[in-house]
Amino acid sequence: MPETASVHSLASTLQQHLADALTAALPDAGVADPLLRRSDRADFQANGILALAKKTKSNPRDLAAQVTSAIPANELIKDIEVSGPGFLNITLTDRAITETLAARAADDRLGVPYAENPGTTVIDYAQPNVAKEMHVGHLRSAVIGDAMAKIMEFEGEKVVRRHHIGDWGTQFGMLIQYLTEHPTELDHKNADDAADVDGEAAMSSLNRLYKASRALFDSDEEFKARARDRVVALQAGDPETLALWQRFVDESKIYFYSVFNKLDMEIDDPDIVGESGYNAMLEETCQILEDSGVAVRSEGALCVFFDDVKGPDGNPTPLIVKKTNGGYGYAATDLSAIRDRVQNLKATTLLYVVDARQSLHFKMVFETARRAGWLNEDTKAVQLAFGTVLGKDGKPFKTREGETIRLVDLLDEAIERASAVVREKAKDLTEAEITERGTQVGIGAVKYADLSTSANRDYKFDLDQMVSLTGDTSVYVQYMHARSCSIKRKAGDLSPQPHPELELAPAERAMGLHLDQFGTVLDEVSTEYAPHKLAAYLFQLSSLFATFYDQCPVVKPEVPKDVAENRLFLSDLTARTLSQGMTLLGIRTPERL
Ligand code: ARG
Repeated sequence: MPETASVHSLASTLQQHLADALTAALPDAGVADPLLRRSDRADFQANGILALAKKTKSNPRDLAAQVTSAIPANELIKDIEVSGPGFLNITLTDRAITETLAARAADDRLGVPYAENPGTTVIDYAQPNVAKEMHVGHLRSAVIGDAMAKIMEFEGEKVVRRHHIGDWGTQFGMLIQYLTEHPTELDHKNADDAADVDGEAAMSSLNRLYKASRALFDSDEEFKARARDRVVALQAGDPETLALWQRFVDESKIYFYSVFNKLDMEIDDPDIVGESGYNAMLEETCQILEDSGVAVRSEGALCVFFDDVKGPDGNPTPLIVKKTNGGYGYAATDLSAIRDRVQNLKATTLLYVVDARQSLHFKMVFETARRAGWLNEDTKAVQLAFGTVLGKDGKPFKTREGETIRLVDLLDEAIERASAVVREKAKDLTEAEITERGTQVGIGAVKYADLSTSANRDYKFDLDQMVSLTGDTSVYVQYMHARSCSIKRKAGDLSPQPHPELELAPAERAMGLHLDQFGTVLDEVSTEYAPHKLAAYLFQLSSLFATFYDQCPVVKPEVPKDVAENRLFLSDLTARTLSQGMTLLGIRTPERL
């Protein structure tokens, strides 16, 4: 086990001092929050005195002065002054900043503590559908889910991944029937090809088969009847039918894996538990709901009603758990999955990274599960709902012919554009190196663009902007990281070394204070399910590094050795923080760009 020693952030230590002083000044006022914020005028500003003064009917400026004198002697605060109606402006000592950063640098986890009460989160993400193309919506779920899973795991949460793929439904009747009548359709023509070509080959035969069977289904009444019988056979668990169904699933998985691989994302086979995985539970789930009165019969279907869910006509829209024809749908599957995840996987949190257009479904499913007692105070369910990916024109992303755009085509284009940027930048690279870095930059760009907007918002898929070296892009962050690595290479004998006795330049202070916030940000990201806050943090760190790079030379003869060592130390900690942060977002940080 690597050594880990968590480090209190400067802000939290300061917060504690102020809270103690508030209590000392007003012992009867109860616990008061000093409301500490980063500030432009000093390092921090505390705004909490105003509210407290109001509450205790005292003069805010007097109270602020009182609090100031109640702060015990400490090494942290250099200067504290009362300003405005009763704010406190606080400046920290350079020594405290450097020493805290030195403690972070000495730790493998950069001093980030593990969460105090970790639980088990089952995260449902990256859930494409069998025999169908993956589109940009599947990209969002995969990218956001992968980042959230990594971040929560880093924070010490037990994370169980579930890829709830769409592998069940009546459409398989038509597909399977067609395959029995055209048995060589899924045989590979180029089985020896490289892995990614294999994925493409798999998808193209699935596509062909889908189109052909659909056409037959729509035009040939007899085939339609045979397809319907197939559905019945599939649901009854007929072994021959199931074996054919399995072929579709396997074939699709070849394709999914090729895409996930391109996305530089690890997906483990046992974590793929699709809709079919809950078949055995469906009947019992419905039985429990009916017996407990949570679900009622309505026009032959088994339904759950909600006071606040009504259709445009004003009539209630129920959640249908069992259809009139006895079939189970999406809802019954999700309810069964909840039972499995809570009862067998012992989840304390269920997190669903799913398109916002399914929000009503999840609202109803969660409420049903609460009524049934599967969800309670100990187990919560959250949908991390994401918005739509738009084209450059601001309309939902489609080809000119109005078809959904294939995810792989987008990824290939991103890699191509990024490779061009890499080729432009570094003239001394081999073709293989350009491809490798182009892939890391291109895939990183796509992921970052997705992660840097708050998930619930729509965003425009604009490749030119995504691979730009300036602005809020992964390329910019990767570039600043690579710059820091290059400083280290050029530093020769000089080694990164903190010197707490040195005064810090403004650019060093600003970067140092930001570096110290890494753990706080991760904490926010994992409790709010807001990965964009990590992207914003890393972008800001990169910008602060750019200023530092301009203003604080390291390897220049006129820079004294201790100053150079301290700068190298700051630069190095920045590189490590950028790299750790990007890794958690699923993005590579090559040492050279
Ligand atoms: N396969 C679905 C789709 O492509 C997403 C599944 C979401 N997860 C769930 N448990 N329902 O839209």
